[in-house]
Amino acid sequence: MKSLGLENKVIFVTGGSRGIGAATVALLQGLGAQVAYTYTNVAHCPEDSYAIKADVSDGEAMETAAQQVEEKLGPVYGVVANAGITRDNFYAKLTPEDWDAVINVNLKGVNHTIKPFISRMYERSEGSIVCLTSISGERGNIGQTNYGATKAAVIGLVKCLAKEAARYGVRVNAIAPGFIDTSMTEAIPDKVRDKIITEIPLRRFGKPEEVAWAIAFLLSPVASSYISGEVVRVNGAYHT
Ligand SMILES: NC(=O)c1ccc[n+]([C@@H]2O[C@H](COP(=O)([O-])OP(=O)(O)OC[C@H]3O[C@@H](n4cnc5c(N)ncnc54)[C@H](O)[C@@H]3O)[C@@H](O)[C@H]2O)c1
Repeated sequence: MKSLGLENKVIFVTGGSRGIGAATVALLQGLGAQVAYTYTNVAHCPEDSYAIKADVSDGEAMETAAQQVEEKLGPVYGVVANAGITRDNFYAKLTPEDWDAVINVNLKGVNHTIKPFISRMYERSEGSIVCLTSISGERGNIGQTNYGATKAAVIGLVKCLAKEAARYGVRVNAIAPGFIDTSMTEAIPDKVRDKIITEIPLRRFGKPEEVAWAIAFLLSPVASSYISGEVVRVNGAYHT
């Protein structure tokens, strides 16, 4: 019987309470991993997972969360930097608050998520890091200059860190979803949604589970052991 080799691996997921994060937590548990995840408001905790209330924009809170996970579950093998927000508006109307909020969560938050684990992964010579970026960071999207800037920056971080981390046996990759049915895309008006769907060759939004499988693949020490510094697109052929 073949497997992804994630059984008993400790994996830390940020923003695991809903959407892509929740689907990832559930899938990884089903694949036998020990999963810890962060939430900000309500923990929808699948049985046996470990939920920690922590805001990714708070570096100290994330250091503490990392310590708590390793004390409770042991050395962390996998990190999924998933938490993210949008504060969409046309650039001319974008407030400094909305610019900063998105930078703090989507870019600084990714740094705060990875940093506490990286040296420990190097010491153990194993680990896989997966960061959520977006189609907006690659092909752009009206109303998302703040969001797209952070998602493009995350791709840069992933590509640079992948080169640094390779000598320690640690892999770093990104997932770039297109349009996925979660709370993040709920606010898209029906008219706009219908137009977007006509442009997506697979003619629908993706499901959170379809992104979760790609994340599991990139975490896997079996399935993706020679893949690092890569951006895997999950977008129904809605490419750049
Ligand atoms: N849904 C899409 O179409 C889509 C497309 C491309 C990329 N993404 C990316 O995928 C990731 C997950 O998005 P989603 O669609 O599941 O969104 P979502 O809004 O359903 O979930 C986002 C998660 O992030 C958490 N979060 C938000 N701010 C946080 C903070 N400050 N600290 C800790 N956690 C925080 C939320 O609690 C939630 O669990 C995000 O990084 C998003 O940018 C989503």
